[in-house]
Amino acid sequence: MTPRSRPKLDVAACRREFPALTRTVNGRPAVFLDGPGGSQVPARVAGAVARYLASMNANSGGAFATSVETDAMLAEAHRAAADFVGASDPGCVAFGANMTTLALSLARALARTWRSGDEVVVTRLEHDANVTPWVQAARDAGAAVRHAAIRRTDCTLDLDDLESKLAEQTRLVAVGCASNAVGTIAPVGEIVEMAHAYGAEVFLDAVHLAPHALLDVEAWGCDYLCCSAYKFFGPHVGVLYGKREKLEGLPAYKLRPSPEDLPHRWETGTQCHEGIAGTLEAIEYLADLGRRIARVPLPRREALREAYAAIREHERGLAARALEVLLAIPGVEVRGIADPDRLDERTPTFGFTHRRLAPAEVAARLADEGIFVWSGNFYALPLTEALGIEPGGLARAGFLHYNTLDEVERLGEALARL
Ligand SMILES: Cc1ncc(COP(=O)(O)O)c(C=O)c1O
Repeated sequence: MTPRSRPKLDVAACRREFPALTRTVNGRPAVFLDGPGGSQVPARVAGAVARYLASMNANSGGAFATSVETDAMLAEAHRAAADFVGASDPGCVAFGANMTTLALSLARALARTWRSGDEVVVTRLEHDANVTPWVQAARDAGAAVRHAAIRRTDCTLDLDDLESKLAEQTRLVAVGCASNAVGTIAPVGEIVEMAHAYGAEVFLDAVHLAPHALLDVEAWGCDYLCCSAYKFFGPHVGVLYGKREKLEGLPAYKLRPSPEDLPHRWETGTQCHEGIAGTLEAIEYLADLGRRIARVPLPRREALREAYAAIREHERGLAARALEVLLAIPGVEVRGIADPDRLDERTPTFGFTHRRLAPAEVAARLADEGIFVWSGNFYALPLTEALGIEPGGLARAGFLHYNTLDEVERLGEALARL
């Protein structure tokens, strides 16, 4: 099927699945542009969480019905999460509290394998959850941290600078797949290849990219990746992927009686089963979107591929119009890629500043109009520092597949009134 003939996303039908989107503020429909901070969830996700608690709630590993059902759900959720990230081995996917907690536990284990003289490379485009875990692990191991620069004009990674920071002693390169502050998508395949050429491992932070584009760990060749279900229409649960030999070989901190096999050695304590049930349902929501678009009962991974092709196309339209609207407002400055011909290099997440109003003031004034945006640095502190906009940071309007062109116009009209 050519891209031209590809069936489009039925946004109205998608929106009907999200009860939160019917909310009104002062008599007008709320406009949810807070997605980069956390997406809304379809009713079926909320239902799966409630159903788990109401009918299946148990610890795992028991002989009785609820525990057996819990184990079956957990096994299916691992298979779904593996499909979601593009891994063929469900054992390579572990659940946890959130991306930050999973990154910290991976960092603790990696630190035990690093030595003085080793080096770690992070970038200035990251959420701090993809910086400080590695900085602290490096400190514990006596390793050094090198920071790859960005191009401030368009908030893209300076790949030459990144390559200049790589050396034989580089043990880890930590890169975000996409910036949660300004939407820049990193060329992760290229970066993985570059890092591997120096013998370094690669950790990818896919938290921001996950609701916008298909994750593909095996195509990218990364060693580790994390994402968070609450950014892709699920509950507050984190997901860790790692290559089997890495996850098996690392000295993870774990309790004595807990199993050594994958993924259990990374899933410390009792997991949030209801959250994992909701995560499974969120992935099924996306897969069903793909199946509806393709009009055939595709296997989950193929269905996700279809869904993301349609999501990306719809979001491209939103991004194109949002850029036009934002660039036309006097006093608003879009930070990051603002070239309409480069939309493939960004998500529809727009970080912007206003000539007169602080970002918090912009967010408060938009909130009065029922438009939900975040302001601040969103933990992307290295970026806002590099841009010289601390304190205060940015206002951030982030679009997801359930947003509409009408909502882009609402944002534009409200900003124009500021
Ligand atoms: C790009 C990015 N990385 C990491 C995180 C941290 O994720 P979590 O809240 O799951 O710890 C966030 C959260 O906003 C994020 O946007």
